[in-house]
Amino acid sequence: MICPSDELPPPLAVPRLNNQLLHDSGGLRWHLTALRQRHRAWQRFADTLEGWLDAWRPRSDQLLLVGPSAGWTLPDTLLARFAQITVLEPDPIARVLLARRLKGKPLRFDSLDVFAPGGLDALQAHYGDHAVLFCNLIGQLAPDTGCSAWCDTLRSALARLEWASWHDLAASTRPVDRPGAQQIPAGETFEAMVGRFWQGGLVEVMDHGSFSLAAGQGFACTDWTVRRAQHHLVGWLWHQPNAA
Ligand SMILES: C[S@@+](CC[C@H](N)C(=O)[O-])C[C@H]1O[C@@H](n2cnc3c(N)ncnc32)[C@H](O)[C@@H]1O
Repeated sequence: MICPSDELPPPLAVPRLNNQLLHDSGGLRWHLTALRQRHRAWQRFADTLEGWLDAWRPRSDQLLLVGPSAGWTLPDTLLARFAQITVLEPDPIARVLLARRLKGKPLRFDSLDVFAPGGLDALQAHYGDHAVLFCNLIGQLAPDTGCSAWCDTLRSALARLEWASWHDLAASTRPVDRPGAQQIPAGETFEAMVGRFWQGGLVEVMDHGSFSLAAGQGFACTDWTVRRAQHHLVGWLWHQPNAA
């Protein structure tokens, strides 16, 4: 008997990723930008990210990458450290490019949509023993309203997992005045963080809704010129369950 998908029993009823070629934050345009910029405007950001990732030493030797695209900003040094790498990525071109880059490595693709209803429970159930790395995705998916509550829910759902994330915090068409990585101290406001990078004058900044993911704790932050007239602040956080 063929069972309609909405009648599947709960353990199998995980939300599935659909192929997406033209996602707002990924897809063809992203690949073209990456090809043009990764050894130019992106290089300084990629070096900073490599340093953050190098210092991240989860206990698990199984890595789950969520939204890595083709891994344009992921260093080989990270990918070499894990016995198994599983990828959740809806962009089929990104999957092909990443598989080509990691040919011969223990790589597999899976189809769980972590951010669909029920996805976080399924993440815990299926990947509870993995180190989970959110690859610049959370700032794209945080809602415009209620982002603080959304981040709280996400943090609670991830509490028992080893996870880390780099994510867009803010973006502006104006270049930053003080480029480079900075440590944002605990308790700092979003506005104060913005003022560290854009100093003086008026600046129009888009809030990516991911600032609350830090839950008031200190975190690392740097700027990233994604394209001409597209300057981002990116945050880096990691969480170790049972850490003091
Ligand atoms: C800004 S891009 C990430 C860039 C990537 N880290 C890089 O270095 O090139 C966001 C990625 O998230 C993917 N994505 C969107 N929704 C997703 C979801 N629900 N689960 C996993 N990945 C998703 C997009 O296809 C896109 O490749």
